[in-house]
Amino acid sequence: GRMRMNGSSNHMMEGMHDSIAKLENKTGEQGYLNIPPIIKGEMNSSGDIVYSLTAENGAVQFKDGEKTKTMGYNGSFLGPTIVVKKGQNIQINLINHLNNEQTTFHWHGLIVPSDMDGGPHSPIDAGKQTTIAFHVNQEAATLWYHPHVIGKTAEQVYLGLAGILIVKDENESKLGLPEKYGIDDIPVVVQDRTFTDTNQFDYEKDYRADGTAGNTLLVNGTINPYIDVTTNEVRLRLLNGSNARIYTFSLSDNSTFKQIATDGGLLNSPVEMQALSLSPGERAEVIINTDKMYKNGDVLSLMTGDIAVLKMQIGERKDTKNTMPIVLNQLPEINDFSMIDRKIVLSGMAGMVEINQEKFNEHRIDAYGTVGKREIWEIYNQKDMMGGMVHPFHIHGTQFRIISRNGISPAANERGWKDTVAINPDERVKLEVMFIEKGIFMYHCHILEHEDNGMMAQIKIE
Ligand code: C2O
Ligand code: CU
Repeated sequence: GRMRMNGSSNHMMEGMHDSIAKLENKTGEQGYLNIPPIIKGEMNSSGDIVYSLTAENGAVQFKDGEKTKTMGYNGSFLGPTIVVKKGQNIQINLINHLNNEQTTFHWHGLIVPSDMDGGPHSPIDAGKQTTIAFHVNQEAATLWYHPHVIGKTAEQVYLGLAGILIVKDENESKLGLPEKYGIDDIPVVVQDRTFTDTNQFDYEKDYRADGTAGNTLLVNGTINPYIDVTTNEVRLRLLNGSNARIYTFSLSDNSTFKQIATDGGLLNSPVEMQALSLSPGERAEVIINTDKMYKNGDVLSLMTGDIAVLKMQIGERKDTKNTMPIVLNQLPEINDFSMIDRKIVLSGMAGMVEINQEKFNEHRIDAYGTVGKREIWEIYNQKDMMGGMVHPFHIHGTQFRIISRNGISPAANERGWKDTVAINPDERVKLEVMFIEKGIFMYHCHILEHEDNGMMAQIKIE
């Protein structure tokens, strides 16, 4: 395996733009990591699995003192984990119980027709509901869901609307990877928030046009969380669910871990890593092996810089499994046709962000494409006078591959299916993109305030 960091770096964010809140170590509080429940579906008469998701307002006791006013799905903060299998037909009743605001339910990374995708064209008014149906037509992966309302996405996510969607398939089940949910297969939703003196999230006060950030990490909604490790191998499904902050994860003793999956599925083989950067919207699955190095009572932490993200208290490990497969997946070769089909330029900062010199207009189609056609997209992050910043570039309704960064093949851990890619200032990233569904799909910066400020466009696939 190769040991290297992937392309993104977080000091770019801090660069010369107004600086973002510094993360603080929260040593006083400690709680067992909240594990979002797996939502139970019901099978209807035609064999479809039916779920119900309600976006609602709530209040959470994150810390001593007052409860924090929040939003969540089927609860007060974040949402349940949805587990689906490749080949299933799924129906989801989407209910908007928020007070007086529209929302949408977007399935980030899921390959579905655009009218099921929950983008900005599918708002649900407060008090209303709708039902979507789709066929699960992609391989095992860690995806997620969140709102996507024009101008309101960032605030609704900040207040708590987000959840994990796990896709399973036969290949993955046969590999013997850790899969005891909440025990050795753990969703890790990393977000940053600032609490006011009265324990509230004050989105307006903390708003930054280049992306709102907080000084306190919440992991699945827990401040300063820990877990008990009772198996040799622990699988973390990492999601950067933050509005703007980039994390570079490492282990407290600088030992290595193995990345097994990118946004849209398993890598061909595990990649040994010492540090892993994730920009907003990106996911990675990693496996930490505790067999040889640690004794009962040790504490190993997942870190971002010098801040603990998740403490792992190593206990007695009854499970002696130690069977990381060498081959995880059979990804198609990445095609590099030399022709570039589409050039996309990301530019500007704060309120001035644009894609190809335009702001999002829901009534304007920015590009047209053909279903089933492989294309090469070149995404260029145009530096500004201030040096620029990383833009996480996301495309709806597809999983793509990274061909190159400034002409150089991506790191081993970026060679899997991706739906979001960090584009560094002055960098040109080539992607191999194909849509298998028709309709109108968004592509945008996943710094949520940039998206809300218009750094978004749409392609019509016919
Ligand atoms: Cu995760 Cu268009 O969004
Ligand atoms: Cu951006």
